[in-house]
Amino acid sequence: EKGGYDHFMLKEIHEQPRAIRDTLKGRISHAGDKVILDEIKMTTKEIQNIKRIVITACGTAYHAGLVGKYIIEQLVRIPVEVDIASEFRYRDPLIDEETLVVVVSQSGETADTLAALREARRRGARVVAITNVIASSVAREADDIIYTWAGPEISVASTKAYTTQLVAIYLLALYLAQERNTLAAGNIKEILNELKAIYSKAQEVLDGEQPIKDFAEKYCKHEDAFFIGRGLDYAVALEGSLKLKEISYIHAEAYAAGELKHGTLALIVENIPVIALATQQSLFEKMVSNIKEVKARDASVIALAMEGHTEVEKVADQVIYIPKTHQVLAPIITVIPLQLLAYYISVYRGCDVDKPRNLAKSVTVE
Ligand code: F6R
Repeated sequence: EKGGYDHFMLKEIHEQPRAIRDTLKGRISHAGDKVILDEIKMTTKEIQNIKRIVITACGTAYHAGLVGKYIIEQLVRIPVEVDIASEFRYRDPLIDEETLVVVVSQSGETADTLAALREARRRGARVVAITNVIASSVAREADDIIYTWAGPEISVASTKAYTTQLVAIYLLALYLAQERNTLAAGNIKEILNELKAIYSKAQEVLDGEQPIKDFAEKYCKHEDAFFIGRGLDYAVALEGSLKLKEISYIHAEAYAAGELKHGTLALIVENIPVIALATQQSLFEKMVSNIKEVKARDASVIALAMEGHTEVEKVADQVIYIPKTHQVLAPIITVIPLQLLAYYISVYRGCDVDKPRNLAKSVTVE
């Protein structure tokens, strides 16, 4: 049932190219210039009337939502707020008929996420659900559903659900951009073209896992780690840090790299592993400076950069390159080395990878 893999998590990490492809299937026009989301029943007029978007979810799905904020604000120019479902539901949220609420849940059964959905609908908002389970509670109660076609996810640590949630969010963002005319047709086509190729780039990352395995062996004895990044890389850093924490029990923190000098640098000491995400071209120079800041404290830096950005080799101890893609799409492939790193560290530490202590796959209680 594990398809020859030692753990469900590794199997599911390797299923990502297939899952990404399935989630895109039938949702891009033949000519490659339009998103087809028949499952969104809103009219163009209704889409044009949206004033605000609120994304709410828990855990990894919340991290997918954070990527969504950057993407939707950039491509659609609508203000987006992302909120943890257990916070959203209890704070008398500012939601009305002009708010679109996007709920993200792999299982579709997370108690807080479901309650947030109900609260949003009670206040008159339209709710789009992104979920992996057909006819789940979230799917049944939402106005519109975008299914992720990840297939069953057994490992407690979410991997293929996250990357397919990202794909669904990109499709939604591009669909809204298309209906609201916020992006030139050429730009939509360009991003869609890259999106169609992203699964093969995910495969390339998987094929190059050996160096990541070696880093895992090298770093598995540490008890602390930091993940830093800017923009979309910051959102991915949060997910990378969660993966490491939940399955290896290493204390890991993710920081927006610009925040380092506002306190975190005090924690950067000799040899501490810092995973520095530097995939965003427009923020690359800033990240190089941040890497220098932690190197000046003798941290051990693994940088993630896009192919061609070899300049990073001068400042980082090690570099993992991801295949070149449009910078807005980078999170889909940037997260994969971080999933593999967490996985192999967990294995080297002898942890129960698929069933980490104290955690359940589906949290149906508050
Ligand atoms: C982390 C993880 C959890 C879930 C969270 C939400 O790897 O799996 O953080 O993402 O419990 O679950 P769903 O998406 O089912 O609502």
